[in-house]
Amino acid sequence: MVTAFAPATVANLNCGFDVLGLAIETPGDEVSVWWNDVGEVRIVKIEGDDGKLSYLPEENTATGGILTMFEMVGKGSRGIDVAIKKKMPFGSGLGSSAASAVAGVMAVNKLMGSPFTKTELVEFALDGEVIASGSRHADNVAPSMMGGIVLIKSYHPLEIVQLPVPEGLWVTVIHPQIEILTKEARNILPKEIGLKEAIIQTGNIAGFVSALYTGDFELMGKSMTDRFAEPYRAALIPQFDLMRTKAMLHGAISFGISGSGPSVFAFSKGEETALKVATAVKSLLNNLKIETNSYTSAINQSGAKAWHDLG
Ligand code: HSE
Repeated sequence: MVTAFAPATVANLNCGFDVLGLAIETPGDEVSVWWNDVGEVRIVKIEGDDGKLSYLPEENTATGGILTMFEMVGKGSRGIDVAIKKKMPFGSGLGSSAASAVAGVMAVNKLMGSPFTKTELVEFALDGEVIASGSRHADNVAPSMMGGIVLIKSYHPLEIVQLPVPEGLWVTVIHPQIEILTKEARNILPKEIGLKEAIIQTGNIAGFVSALYTGDFELMGKSMTDRFAEPYRAALIPQFDLMRTKAMLHGAISFGISGSGPSVFAFSKGEETALKVATAVKSLLNNLKIETNSYTSAINQSGAKAWHDLG
């Protein structure tokens, strides 16, 4: 049996809608796979999903990419049995569907003797992501797979650029326990963006990438604003503006929506500040009787991993 772990991710990073994302250490999803002799992909066990996920491989994000790999590689009489451990909440903005999709293809790749590189596996994992979110955005899948901070330079063809991670960069993620589905959070966005907004956003993303190379935290913070999604999505998240104010008062470099929300994230210099930001933002939500989980993490530089597992 092979088991794979794929970490949670923060997508968009404010200025990079659909093109920037990073991986955090935990939480993450696990998928285990082993050969069967029925010649098909079967889901045999799902844990941690409260009964929400489908056992049909073509309807489950963990197996969407496995099915494509299985077709491509040719399998003879062997099939693959799949067991899924969901360790992340759905609709959280932490790339839950992407983590399952990535763990699935990572595990099967190792089972097959590693015929594909991680970059190639991203394409397969997108076949899983699309099942859950209705779109092939790679800003969760790519960082979950590769680790680090990742730029999706192009979708057609898919080109992924690994960006440098400045020393001392920490991320705080707060998950208010309400559910926002990516599919719905994408539907409320405008289909066109005005030139004025596009110019501001282009300047910001260039500033952000430059700041990663130079380790300029001040430029990083100034560049992390969002004209594309936040103006429409912030209203879905309770106390969004107040959370930003609190995070910035406690020393955060930047604050924004993690992926399509409801999770929010902050960048800080150093673990101590990142923890202070977590406490401050959490207490604000807890005062309002909104339950939260928080994750304070350095950037996960290794991404998904797979190992032979004796079960
Ligand atoms: N870029 C995607 C979005 C990420 O914002 O819709 C979803 O996690």
